[in-house]
Amino acid sequence: MKNVKDLVLDHLRSPKPYDAIRTVETLAAETGIPPSEMIRLNGNENSYGPSPKVGPALGTFDQYNRYPDPQQTELRDALSNYTGAHRDSIVAGNGSDELIDLIIRLFVGKGDKIIEPSPTFGMYGFSARLAQAEIIKVPRNANFDLDIAQIKQVWDKQTKVIFIAHPNNPTGNPATREQIIELLHLNSIIVVDEAYHEYCGQTCIDLINRYPNLIVLRTFSKWAGLAGLRIGLGVMNPEIAQLMMTIKPPYNMNRAAEEALKASLEDKDLLISRIAPVIEQRERLFQLMRELPGVTPIPSAANFMMLRLPQGKGLDIFHKLAARGILTRCYDYPEMKDCIRVSIGQQWEVDGFTKALTEILDQV
Ligand SMILES: Cc1ncc(COP(=O)(O)O)c(C=O)c1O
Repeated sequence: MKNVKDLVLDHLRSPKPYDAIRTVETLAAETGIPPSEMIRLNGNENSYGPSPKVGPALGTFDQYNRYPDPQQTELRDALSNYTGAHRDSIVAGNGSDELIDLIIRLFVGKGDKIIEPSPTFGMYGFSARLAQAEIIKVPRNANFDLDIAQIKQVWDKQTKVIFIAHPNNPTGNPATREQIIELLHLNSIIVVDEAYHEYCGQTCIDLINRYPNLIVLRTFSKWAGLAGLRIGLGVMNPEIAQLMMTIKPPYNMNRAAEEALKASLEDKDLLISRIAPVIEQRERLFQLMRELPGVTPIPSAANFMMLRLPQGKGLDIFHKLAARGILTRCYDYPEMKDCIRVSIGQQWEVDGFTKALTEILDQV
């Protein structure tokens, strides 16, 4: 064989990788700082961890040698209870990332288009690129709000899916219900990604019965602290759900994820009680950042906040924070030059971040 890479599909020979979070292990190797001393504010994870019921449930479960249920019978019932949606409208996925991929597989072919109001979550474009779709980025306005008129202007019948993160990642602002309803009148699938729903309180799940082209995504990675177990869900028209159930990998939900999901929902009240302290820290961080010269915090309805840093200094500050073991996220979109995104956790994390940023701002 001359070169095994010649066998790879043309469009996948040099794919653009997903810009995934840097791990604490990588940073530890670079800085010598032990992971236990780092502050991880780059993944919008849940700093409180999962429900205390998850560990024992996983430890005592004795069916790991058995395949999971491809029909997700128990899971769909549990998720129906949690979301209020009918079980036949629900599909569970290996993270909502998998559902994004399944949506693309179901609706988007080579040469089709997706629209994403940019900047936004990277997985929409990532999955669409693998499907050889064209990604139409419609810039958000100066406040990062949706430009509905522009979306409608660029829409054409090749536009198969429009992705709306609500609230948006990385900017933290929600869309309005009116904006979403306006988009639902277009002849495309409208994905409303509610990954941060529990921090924001708004939802479009109640619109599923009225709009067959609506798909709402949720995840257990944020509010339930299960990012490492990969549990997401989609709520959609039951006919679409049935098709998605048919094309998904049969055993996409592993048994540990199933058990963790059930244990989390049994402990829902505790998990939900951890939301308010995060919101409190979010508002505290906003006030603290407003007092720092040259720093502009962007109001957020999620468990993270975007900060605009002094002009020309964003990347330097990002690296200086990392050198102190504080992981945040920076972006190479032109409209987000000098911005970092900071996940909100507990008070000690907000304090550690604020202290470090204050000191770094004095040096740059
Ligand atoms: C808007 C948005 N959607 C989906 C996801 C992915 O969630 P999951 O961990 O369920 O794949 C994220 C993760 O950060 C996100 O920000």
